[in-house]
Amino acid sequence: MLQEKVKPIEETLDPEDWESMRALGHRMVDDMLTYLRNVRSEPSGSPTQKAIEDICVPLTHDGEGEEKVYEVFQHSILPYTFSITRPRFWGLVAGTGSPYGMFAEMLRAGMNSCQESLFAEAYVHKQVIGWIKEMVDFPEEAGGVLVSGGSEANFTGLAVARNTEAEVDMKAEGVQGLRRRMTLYCSDETHHCLERSVELLGLGNEALRWIPTDDDCRIRLDALRKAIEDDRKQNNHPFCIIGCAGTVNSGAFDDLNALADLAKKENMWFHVDGAFGTWVKISETHRHLADGMERADSLAIDLHKWMCMPYGIGCTLVKDRLAHYNTFVYGHEAKYLKSALDQLEDQITGPHNLALALSRNFTSLKAYMLLRAYGKNKYGNLVQQNVDQINYLSELIGREPNMEITAPVTSNVVCFRYKPKGLIEPEIEKLNKIIYDELNRMSFLMISDTTIKGKYMLRACNVNHRSQKQDFEFLVNEVKKIGGQIAKY
Ligand SMILES: Cc1ncc(COP(=O)(O)O)c(C=O)c1O
Repeated sequence: MLQEKVKPIEETLDPEDWESMRALGHRMVDDMLTYLRNVRSEPSGSPTQKAIEDICVPLTHDGEGEEKVYEVFQHSILPYTFSITRPRFWGLVAGTGSPYGMFAEMLRAGMNSCQESLFAEAYVHKQVIGWIKEMVDFPEEAGGVLVSGGSEANFTGLAVARNTEAEVDMKAEGVQGLRRRMTLYCSDETHHCLERSVELLGLGNEALRWIPTDDDCRIRLDALRKAIEDDRKQNNHPFCIIGCAGTVNSGAFDDLNALADLAKKENMWFHVDGAFGTWVKISETHRHLADGMERADSLAIDLHKWMCMPYGIGCTLVKDRLAHYNTFVYGHEAKYLKSALDQLEDQITGPHNLALALSRNFTSLKAYMLLRAYGKNKYGNLVQQNVDQINYLSELIGREPNMEITAPVTSNVVCFRYKPKGLIEPEIEKLNKIIYDELNRMSFLMISDTTIKGKYMLRACNVNHRSQKQDFEFLVNEVKKIGGQIAKY
């Protein structure tokens, strides 16, 4: 007699009841749209003890169900997040996202594509790179790849620089084969992610020469020339100049044309970190700041900062496409990719051959949808608006007898402090540290603090498409109010 077969239970992550899942999904979309519409007044703050207890639970064997976990998100996670979507968020360099960007991310996750080098994904990625090149005046022949953000964009550019300029076959021998120290040059206002890249590339952070800046926070060309000369005398190998298009502290721009000239004369690679500053290129009044950027061999850009795309998306553009490809393609081609290797053009534009990740989320989709939906003008207007707002904030600060601007205002950053008469430097620093803490205690406002040339200061960086003039007036009034109260005692 045949034994009756026991039907195996086949597990799946698809819902048993698609209609309930649909209803939950609709609720999530509705809730997030309401949240974004009301973001100006949504409460936020550090997680309460109750919220932490709700978040930090043991993993159950059988799961708690989608509805329950969504409730945890709504009540214990979302209200206590680092919510940079707010109109008065000017800390770090933090883009504020957008509703349409959120939808694009949902579509991407729904598709769950793992390659941008096949099918329609390949065309979308290629098109986005094409649009970016056009917007930032990079030549059509240049190549590029979308990555996770500015840090990876810089790392990618420097990896190509190192492999191209090395005096040994870097892929085969690595830094162990080097007979001379390879050295790079950047200003002392350069973002620390460049140092991390240099370390990870095995060059050692001592190879990175931090060149002093002038009063405008721009790299000093005389000091740069001298440093290169000194290294040559010591038989080191100067191979790369890094320029800043928008320093993180004050939004300063190096003289990129002068750096391009010097790199050419010295036969060195020219890399530009334009994580956010690149986008002055699409403003009406400030595009000249980035003159010379188009002469870079490699350029690092963020799209999640000033372009407000959902995190994390950045881009590396490289002039020499073959050098870029040669850096990342396998030394020994992976066999399972061999079938695709006959078409070099496809390989050279295939993002899996131009950055570290092989499996990639379809990150170009959000950039594609947003750029195509809103067009260049809308983004240009937003960049311009942020710059104008920072000028307005500077004017407001300039009118206050007890406040001062502490670094030249070049683009979208203003550094300032409260400085009542009669206080000495350590007292001013202490006072402003308190103001900083008090301001950031308000859940709906955030700025950063920083130190430039040894001076402590407050810093507002504006890449926020939700900020309005009144928000900057509010900031100045609060600084005055808090500063005035503390200074009394
Ligand atoms: C000038 C500059 N470069 C690089 C980075 C690092 O970019 P990301 O945070 O996207 O990795 C930042 C971040 O603020 C930056 O301001």
